Amino acid sequence: MAKQKTTVGTIDNEVLAFTAGRDVELDHALIEVDCIGTAAHVTMLSRMPVDPALITDAERAQVIEGLVEIIGLARKGSFPIELADQDVHLAVERTLTTKLGDLGKKIHTCRSRNDQVAVDLRLYAKEQLLGALEEAVGLVAALVEFGKRHESVPMVGRTHMQPGMPSSVGLWATAHAESLLDDCYLLLGAYDVNDQCPLGSAASYGVPLPIDRQLTSDLLGFSRPTHNVLYANNGRGKMESVVLAAMSQVMLTLSRLAQDFMLFTMPEFDYFKLPSEFCTGSSIMPQKQNPDVCELVRAKASRVKAAELGVYDLIKGSPTGYNRDLQEAKELFMEGIATTRACLRILAPMVSATGVNEQKLVDGFSPDVFATDRALELVGEGMPFRDAYHYVKENLHELEKIDPREAIQLKTHLGAPLGLDWEYFAARAEAVAESVQEERASFRQAVSELLGIEYPIA
Ligand code: ARG
Repeated sequence: MAKQKTTVGTIDNEVLAFTAGRDVELDHALIEVDCIGTAAHVTMLSRMPVDPALITDAERAQVIEGLVEIIGLARKGSFPIELADQDVHLAVERTLTTKLGDLGKKIHTCRSRNDQVAVDLRLYAKEQLLGALEEAVGLVAALVEFGKRHESVPMVGRTHMQPGMPSSVGLWATAHAESLLDDCYLLLGAYDVNDQCPLGSAASYGVPLPIDRQLTSDLLGFSRPTHNVLYANNGRGKMESVVLAAMSQVMLTLSRLAQDFMLFTMPEFDYFKLPSEFCTGSSIMPQKQNPDVCELVRAKASRVKAAELGVYDLIKGSPTGYNRDLQEAKELFMEGIATTRACLRILAPMVSATGVNEQKLVDGFSPDVFATDRALELVGEGMPFRDAYHYVKENLHELEKIDPREAIQLKTHLGAPLGLDWEYFAARAEAVAESVQEERASFRQAVSELLGIEYPIA
């Protein structure tokens, strides 16, 4: 059988390909964070209170120069990860060893690929979560702007999909916006859980040398190190599952929004018109303008949930400590995040460009939609509610079609169609945007200091 020599032993070719799996491709997304993690680790090694030094300050500078070079290559898409490397971690070590000789062989001191990949994924998750939060705020802004623009456009409010009470387009749009703002809490919660540095936990059990895990964590701009070194490794898979759970809540919101669009743009409703550039045609029916974007968002919600459940299932019976099973979570994790972010990005401009057919929305009102309002009018005149309810129920034929614009003018209490607090939505979105900016700025500053260059590299 053909064998291949790797940095960590000679392996059968088939076994090598089987065990590396998709890492050789997927790890391209981790090259930059792997280099940043290594820069922090080597910096910490260079400051250890041991004599002789494990790595001198001059050596640290040389390693960092090599890492910056690799980051540059990665940005151009020209840093190769070979099958013999197995993954990004050994590709970086091989490259540094080719360039720096014995010094390259020192970088893995007091570290394992287990804590290395754990820190890579956490740095990756940080950036992805910030991106997703930013995109979520973009969609919230589009929905709120749409709602404000059509604040007093009446819309039949439905329960059981049947006509219920007078409502407005503003109420409909901002319901989805508020849902997404709650999802931002979950994304920020996931961010906080993720914001702990596992580096230095090594293979799961620490090392017999006085490493400084707090320093490594600080150098990387994490809020804190994970504490227990075994949990640092058990946290892999759990962290991905927490992040995907938040992403899947985002998709739950988006899927319902997409479903509403599909319903209300049906010609039988004709309340909204999707921008034609967001619809696709048919290869046989010349007239077709299909809401494929919405259908795909609905379908992708299932895929993100499947990714979340996939990770959960992979780790729920996984024994303590590193197990190679964890590698299988990587693809689900990356795909789930990328899918969610793509949906957030495609919907924002679609919402902004969606047309509203006020006439159709008004025509949708039949007199019975005012039944509850009428009962409450009688209550206002002194009748007990249940009596008013029965009176209206028995005299539905007496109900008149009122101008729904007038009906919603009366609904001014907190959160009602004309009681929507635009400041409330703006303030919540702004708070999220500010957190993103602060987190991003502090990460960039930490990495710039670590690498001694302006980061991110232009
Ligand atoms: N590619 C591996 C993963 O994603 C890196 C860690 C390998 N560790 C090991 N003990 N084989 O899990």
